[in-house]
Amino acid sequence: MNKIGVVGSGSMGSGIAQVAATAGHEVLLYDNNATALTKASDKLQKILNRLVEKGRMTDVEAKAIFGRIYFVDNLSAYEECDMVIEAIIENLDIKKQVFQKLESIVPDHCILASNTSSLSIASIAAACEKANRVIGIHFFNPAPLMKLVEIIPAIQTSPATLALAQSTIDKWGKLTVLAKDTPGFIVNRVARPFYGEALRILEEGIADVATIDWAMTSIGGFRMGPFTLMDYIGNDVNYTVTETVFKAFYFDPRYKPAFTQKRLSEAGYLGRKAGRGYYNYAEGVENPPANEDRDLGERILWRILVMLINEAADAVHWNIASREDIDLAMTKGVNYPKGLLSWADEIGIKKCVKALDKLYKEYHEDRYRCSPLLRKMSKNKASFFPKD
Ligand SMILES: NC(=O)c1ccc[n+]([C@@H]2O[C@H](COP(=O)([O-])OP(=O)(O)OC[C@H]3O[C@@H](n4cnc5c(N)ncnc54)[C@H](O)[C@@H]3O)[C@@H](O)[C@H]2O)c1
Repeated sequence: MNKIGVVGSGSMGSGIAQVAATAGHEVLLYDNNATALTKASDKLQKILNRLVEKGRMTDVEAKAIFGRIYFVDNLSAYEECDMVIEAIIENLDIKKQVFQKLESIVPDHCILASNTSSLSIASIAAACEKANRVIGIHFFNPAPLMKLVEIIPAIQTSPATLALAQSTIDKWGKLTVLAKDTPGFIVNRVARPFYGEALRILEEGIADVATIDWAMTSIGGFRMGPFTLMDYIGNDVNYTVTETVFKAFYFDPRYKPAFTQKRLSEAGYLGRKAGRGYYNYAEGVENPPANEDRDLGERILWRILVMLINEAADAVHWNIASREDIDLAMTKGVNYPKGLLSWADEIGIKKCVKALDKLYKEYHEDRYRCSPLLRKMSKNKASFFPKD
């Protein structure tokens, strides 16, 4: 691996270019929008300057990293690339066109990767003549800071492509996990109840946003509560991911989006970036305080946590990833305080099954069905990881 191409110079593409250049590669960064490319160049220069100010690198190092990134306005410059990572708009048809164009330019050995969050890698690969060189390499935002990268081989991907792509990203100092080519891969699938169940609790009037956030952070140890996090991600973005996963799972009710979030998104209450979301971020505004009732807080945490555990267990059940990678993905990708499967072992599988069955009995909704794996494990008194 020598020359890396990145297509799309938005939030993700510019971050990935920075990571690859920091690892010592020459990087070609292309965008079909000249303004976006200039913005990326300015942004990267600012970020590197800040790293120098903070003492994280010397001025010479920062200049060398920036000097390794070539901002190009034509894909034809990619003829010597060993790997290209695509990070353009999340649209299957446009991505397919870009992959076809790339194939007509890059050398035969070049790996073609997509940073897609929700599209199938198999369908992108199917647009290529050499589908076996296509793979998913899913970074998290911001790419230079987030350690986790999901590696997603499609059914067409060759073992050689997988091995080389994964070892390259490992060498960039990232923590890679291997995920099956299914909607949401690991993190965007397993994390859905963190938002979805919190929204259900809100919509049923059990608690308000501040109380739910307080329960998840103060009692649960999560770094951010679900509503603070949704406001941070953007309600438009978070809603679209949920809706995409829901549709991709053939409308499985477990992933059903919430009207509350749809309306917020429609109203332009997108979160921090709009100054208003679940919370009001205008200067001087005090948002209503949480109801710090411990019993209520524990009930909220328990309901969301058990749904998260069920989702993680189901991902094991469907062989989406190894148990170790699922726990690693949630602690390193979204900073959960503990791996969900280890957390389930700690609580006791039987207790988790009982809680899920209680929800199912109360609501009679398929959303609350217990994973067959959890039920089997409870019967066999098994745990996800060996007990010391
Ligand atoms: N933002 C996130 O949190 C995040 C996290 C992981 C993965 N992703 C995925 O990464 C990809 C990019 O997301 P983003 O947030 O960086 O988007 P973005 O909107 O910030 O950037 C996309 C860039 O692609 C450019 N572009 C669009 N069509 C193009 C084309 N045909 N050729 C070249 N450039 C083109 C746009 O001009 C824009 O600069 C998407 O597939 C997204 O799902 C996003």
